Amino acid sequence: MVIPHFIGAFFIVELIITGSIIGVDGLSMDYYLMSCPFAETIVKNTVNRNLQSNPALAAGLLRMHFHDCFIEGCDASILIDSTKDNKAEKDSPANLSLRGYEVIDEAKEEIENQCPGVVSCADIIAMAARDAVLWAGGPLYDIPKGRKDGRRSKIEDTFNLPPPFFNSTQLIKMFGQHGFSVQEMVVLSGGHTLGTARCSSFKSRLRKFDATNDVDPTLDQNLAKAMSQTCNAGDDAEFPFDSSKNAFDNLYFNALQRKAGVLTSDQTLFTNPKTRGIVNAYAMNQAMFFFDFSQAMVKMGLLDVKEGDKGEVRENCRRIK
Ligand code: HEM
Repeated sequence: MVIPHFIGAFFIVELIITGSIIGVDGLSMDYYLMSCPFAETIVKNTVNRNLQSNPALAAGLLRMHFHDCFIEGCDASILIDSTKDNKAEKDSPANLSLRGYEVIDEAKEEIENQCPGVVSCADIIAMAARDAVLWAGGPLYDIPKGRKDGRRSKIEDTFNLPPPFFNSTQLIKMFGQHGFSVQEMVVLSGGHTLGTARCSSFKSRLRKFDATNDVDPTLDQNLAKAMSQTCNAGDDAEFPFDSSKNAFDNLYFNALQRKAGVLTSDQTLFTNPKTRGIVNAYAMNQAMFFFDFSQAMVKMGLLDVKEGDKGEVRENCRRIK
């Protein structure tokens, strides 16, 4: 049962659990209550401290959780460093701009000092993403804990991450393969209310490499100019997804209504009549966006979770035991 409350500006979603959680046995809200009671506090404090000095890390931590869960499930496979025998997920082109690894390391180190070998890196990523969303002004929601860390991280698995040039139909299909509805795909795309994209992710929209040589017609011409100027600084130059890149709000959806989506995969959500209504709803109603986002994040955080002996608790999040 899901009970929403309004408390001041915050929208709190409480998931009241009876028995097993959404079919994932072994996970629970109070998983570390006895074994590591300060785990959640340590993660929250570490996240808040880091975001205070670098607010851009909120976006990084949210994206890290998404990229972790979509490949091999939420098992911290994204954190594994490559070795001479294994090219890991984090070295894939799709992951090279991920940020926030040091925040997870810092939280893990402090937790290990208090309760060694208890709290998984996968849970730390999930908690950190949640805390980052709240820090940026987004919804407060609770998540089940008890994920185990995976033992596989291979660069070739990352072809399953959605590329920026996907259209709505392709996104619906890919998210559908992970069990998400069309509405859940759109609300999760709302994660782009935080952060930036690099020029390399959108430059193909600025000049079409065909006979027309035109700018993408679904992109606002003034925004295209600003994006082109950014690209003068090179492929790694960053452009914000919306006008408040460090604030979790619904301005991303408003931007799509004005043809101001940065990636093809953003603007397609408004161009395609199948998803346009959902974009309009979230653009109009931030509370609805927050509520649906919270629910979809809890669901995403349960993707192919490894429980019991199917995984491990790493000592160092960057190395399989
Ligand atoms: C719908 C399919 C999606 C596609 C095609 C996509 C693609 C991308 C791309 C290309 C970037 C910019 C990377 C760069 O240029 O460095 C990006 C950034 C980002 N993505 Fe997504 N993404 C998708 C869904 C999501 C979801 C579901 C979330 C989280 C719930 C998310 C969170 C983020 C965040 C927060 C950033 C900014 C990162 C930063 O500034 O460090 N994305 N995404």
